[in-house]
Formats: sequence, C-alpha cells, structure tokens
Amino acid sequence: MSLKHVHIKTFGCQMNVYDSRKMLSLLAPLGYAEVDTPEAADLVLLNTCHIREKAGEKVYSDLGRLHKLSGQRQKNGQNPIVLGVTGCVAQAEQDEVFRRAPYVDLVVGPQAYHRLPELVVAAETKHTGQRPRWNATDFTPQSKFDALPLAGSKQGVSAFLTIQEGCDKFCTFCVVPYTRGAEYSRPVTAIVEEAKILMGEGAREITLLGQNVNAYHHGGVGLGKLLFLLAALPGLDRLRYTTSHPRDVDEELIEAHKNLPSLMPLLHLPVQSGSDKILAAMNRRHTADDYRRVIDRLKNAQPSLQFTSDFIVGFPGETDADFAATLRLVKDVTYAAAFSFKYSPRPGTPAAVLETQVPEAVKTERLATLQALLGQQQHSFNLSLVGTIQPVLIMEASKRPGIMFGKTPFWQSVLVTGNAAPGSISPVLMEEAAPGTLHGRVIDNQLEEATAA
Ligand code: 5AD
Ligand code: SF4
Repeated sequence: MSLKHVHIKTFGCQMNVYDSRKMLSLLAPLGYAEVDTPEAADLVLLNTCHIREKAGEKVYSDLGRLHKLSGQRQKNGQNPIVLGVTGCVAQAEQDEVFRRAPYVDLVVGPQAYHRLPELVVAAETKHTGQRPRWNATDFTPQSKFDALPLAGSKQGVSAFLTIQEGCDKFCTFCVVPYTRGAEYSRPVTAIVEEAKILMGEGAREITLLGQNVNAYHHGGVGLGKLLFLLAALPGLDRLRYTTSHPRDVDEELIEAHKNLPSLMPLLHLPVQSGSDKILAAMNRRHTADDYRRVIDRLKNAQPSLQFTSDFIVGFPGETDADFAATLRLVKDVTYAAAFSFKYSPRPGTPAAVLETQVPEAVKTERLATLQALLGQQQHSFNLSLVGTIQPVLIMEASKRPGIMFGKTPFWQSVLVTGNAAPGSISPVLMEEAAPGTLHGRVIDNQLEEATAA
C-alpha cells in the first residue's frame, strides 16, 4: 500500500481535538500518515467549530486557500488535494458548504465519523463525479462510538476521552444541541477499556470530555462514581473533566473532589453571566446565587479547588446593570482563568431572533472590561504560586533546547529547566509568572547533583 498523507486542521473545543485523533486512527488502515502542513498532504480535513460566527467563517477562507493550493498542484501535473469538512459546521451547514465551496469533496458530521474511510475512498476516485456527503443526524451516537477504534490515537502523556456527547439543555444562545444532538453517555465498560488503552499508550493524565460532562449517566453510574472507578486504575495519576454545567453538580461529584487525590483541583464551571435576568433569558435554569452556592459547596469539600468559567457579554437585553452583576460575580468567585466572548447570534437559536440585540461597540467595551479583570485574576493566581513547589506533569520538550513543557495541577503551562523526562511528574519550584505561562526548575535532580558534588 502506498503511503498517503493527511493533514487535519482542528478548530474549536477539545472534543474536536479528540475526534481528530480518532479520524487519524480510522484513516491509518487506508495508508494515511499524518503530516503537519496542507502542502505535504494528499487529503486535508478541516474539523470545524460552529459555536460563534467567527469560527464558522474562518472555515470558508481556509477552504478558498486550499482550493488554490490544489489548483496549483494540478498545474504541476500532481493529483488534486482531496478536501473534506468535518465537525460542527459540516453538521449545521452541509448545503451551505457545498454552495459556497462546491469543490469540497466530502462533508461529514460528528455522528458519522465511522463512515469516513469509505467516503475518503470514494472521494479519492474523483472522476466518478459523485460527491459523497453524509448527514450526521442519520446516525445514532452509539453506533458511532461502537465503530470508532479505541486504540492508536497517539495522544501521549495527557489524553482526552469522550464519555458523553450532545446536550439537552438548550441554552438559548447555543448551537450545540443542534450540532451534536441529544445527550448520549457511553457505557462504563467502554470508557474503562479506552482509559486502559490510553494508559498503555503512555497517558498519565486523562481528561474526560463531554459537552455536558457532568450530566453523564449510564446504568446508574454518574460522573462522580465514574471518577471513583477510574481513579482506582493503577497508573492513572491525573483525572480531569470538562465541560460541566452548574445544575449537574451533585453530591457524588463533590465527594469525588473531596476524596480523590488524582482528581485535579481545577474545575471548569461556566456561568456565562452574573445577572439573574440574563441567566433566565439564556435558559440556564439557575441564578447567580445558586452558582455561588455550588462553588461554596465544592470549596468546602476541597479547599485547594480553583475555578475557571466561560462568559458571554452582550447577550440580547444585557444592560449596564446586568453587566455589572457579572463583574460582581467574577470578583466574588475569583477565577484562576476564564474564557470570555461577545455574544454571537447563531442561526436557528432562540436568542438570535430577539429584538434587543446589543450594539457591537457596547459588546467590545464590555469584553475589554471583563477581560482586564479576568486577566488580573489569572495573573495574581499565577503569581501566588511563585516560590511554591508544584508537581508538574512533563509533557514534551519545548521549542527551546533544554527546556521542557509541562502542566501544573491547575492546568497552567510551565516551562521547566532541569532534568525532567516526558511522562514524569516532577517537583518544580515555580520561579516566575509571565502572562499565560509559569517558569520553574525541577528541584529533586538539583538536590541529587548537590549531593553528588
Ligand atoms: N455567542 C458567544 N459565545 C457563545 N458560546 C456558546 N455559544 C455562544 C454564542 N452564540 C460560548 C459559551 C460556551 C462556550 C463554549 O462558548 O460561553 O460556554
Ligand atoms: Fe450549549 Fe453548554 Fe448550554 Fe448545552 S449546556 S446548550 S452545550 S452552553
């Protein structure tokens, strides 16, 4: 079998990162090896995100560029690039993709990734003139998960594992219930089996993924119990999960945070807004105080726990007073880090047709104010670790010689000097906090050197 090359460009969330790895292992039996650039590829897949307009639009500009590249190749007597769109834009805008980029060879939604090999084979023989397309909604998530390979995703030291997909919450701004479909939880046995395989392939940390991961439930097992089961696997040193909803934090999950040392002390718990009026309009079905109480219960159970969140500014109807309530909530909770976005009206979602849309300039100003506050909080949290020794999971060599890249328990990136092997969890003295990154050095090796001298 001749070796062919595939490049996957991944947009959006960690679930897409996970899916891209799965697609690579699905394509390997067809003779496809992964390459880093589209220039080196025979097959290019854009694994897309539909969550905000910007993310969606980026796909079309990329497609234009790839089409040009493919054309140049043909002029040089080479084969054209087989071009595919996967992910949430594929699901939400299948017809639009073919209309705006008629040269695209295949469009595959998230529920149909197990069909990818046959669609790629069909697309390779372009002369048939038939465009393979697949509508993801035709498939149940279960048949997808059953058909995806468990092994060979080459994720390394820190791996993702999807345990749940889809969402039944229908926040009024969000496309996820439409692009990823109804909630589906994978069976416990399949999850444990995949975790063991990932560990066999070198994982020491596993992040459980789901659009609504703490709504996970299968055969009477919720996320809390699942975490207890996974934490019992020898060699699984670090567990995380994302993304959760404040309404689905139950007693068992809090118990997991209290009792499991391998459950890392950082929880992504998006609140979106601090205004009860806006939370209601978003259909979040909790108030700002409900959220404060959940945070307090978690902190009481596990005092080392830090929080991150997502925020939307400029949701329709958001006044200065509503925005001030968001700032108040941020000050009350104090976040280790956070993501914040301008509200982006998405076709087909209830909030998009509200008449009380907030002007762009107001959104821009509010976003800047919020990000300044969140940035300060992140910086002071990073600074608070300077001088402490943190167990850092060493991921890989950084671009700079002699410097390794690792992650703290709080998911901060650290550039580490000293002897540290990828896959080790090394004690690192935090020496400096730059925006977004910490710098530190491994301490036990230095001690050994000192003793030897
Ligand atoms: N506009 C802006 N941000 C959005 N998000 C989801 N939908 C939208 C939208 N229409 C944000 C939310 C969510 C995160 C993944 O993306 O904050 O938690
Ligand atoms: Fe979207 Fe999350 Fe709300 Fe579900 S819970 S609709 S994924 S924001």
